[in-house]
Amino acid sequence: LATTEVDISPIEEGQRITVIWRGKPVFIEYRSENTVQKIRSEKIEDLRDPQTDQDRVQKAQWLVAIGVCTHLGCIPMGQKEGDPRGDWGGWFCPCHGSHYDQSGRIRKGPAPRNLAIPPYTFKANDILQIG
Ligand code: FES
Repeated sequence: LATTEVDISPIEEGQRITVIWRGKPVFIEYRSENTVQKIRSEKIEDLRDPQTDQDRVQKAQWLVAIGVCTHLGCIPMGQKEGDPRGDWGGWFCPCHGSHYDQSGRIRKGPAPRNLAIPPYTFKANDILQIG
């Protein structure tokens, strides 16, 4: 399917879900206000792929990112309860040890770029359309 529609109303604060769009996993997280504040208070100059969190999301509480490591394409861990989430609380790629923060930005390890952001729109308050 070229587009994937997701009803995000059942997702609770702090929860992460994975949906499939064009055969790829897409990570969706309902981020708490604390998480957003924390991530937005950090300096971006030192990042390998400098991007503000504001440039990566449409709505502060919703992170939508393609769940494919930008190193060699493994699926990073962190979606399930109890998964390792890396040193920045985002995602951890077990293949070669890349750490992503809660904006999906690469912070440590071999991956060259932040997790990619797919095209998406909010069709209604609770309906997210990817693609
Ligand atoms: Fe993720 Fe290499 S594929 S660190």
